[in-house]
Amino acid sequence: MGIGPDEFRHVLSHFASGVTVVTTWDADGGPTGLTASAFTSVSLEPPLILVCVDHKAQSYPALRASGRFAVNVLAAEHETVSRRFATTDADKFNGVSYRPGPLGLPLLPEALAQLECRTVHAYPGGDHTIFVGEVEAAHARDGEPLLYFRGDYTRLDQRRS
Ligand SMILES: Cc1cc2nc3c(=O)[nH]c(=O)nc-3n(C[C@H](O)[C@H](O)[C@H](O)COP(=O)(O)O)c2cc1C
Repeated sequence: MGIGPDEFRHVLSHFASGVTVVTTWDADGGPTGLTASAFTSVSLEPPLILVCVDHKAQSYPALRASGRFAVNVLAAEHETVSRRFATTDADKFNGVSYRPGPLGLPLLPEALAQLECRTVHAYPGGDHTIFVGEVEAAHARDGEPLLYFRGDYTRLDQRRS
């Protein structure tokens, strides 16, 4: 007995998550990235995290080739940023403020947290690749996170009443 992709997606949508934008540099030296909620911590020592990226994503080849990536954890006010980076628009960074972080990766300055990583493993995961990154620089600020639940954006304060 199996499960179809639509039902699988529906069931998974009941797992509430934060939202990140994963960024790196492409072969032409331009910034590239995508919205990703398949992000988790892996290890404290060494400090490892992972992100799962669809092979169909435009930014996948750059993530594979560059050997490094950044994870920008989005704040509650970043729904528009999330929607933008969830499209295949070739120039998602046009009009979006970004700057190189301590390791030189493109960071979204208003992100709630930023982690710059060196890719230490790239495991096959069906139609995705599981990129494990060793975190070499990280920063966080106060603020509320953007959340994703059952196919829609939400915020912590909407769930507290
Ligand atoms: C909330 C949300 C979470 C997402 N999480 C992931 C993810 O973890 N991995 C992934 O490969 N795509 C994820 N996506 C889909 C990508 O953002 C989307 O396919 C995007 O168009 C990829 O951009 P690219 O093709 O320009 O790289 C997510 C989309 C949304 C809206």
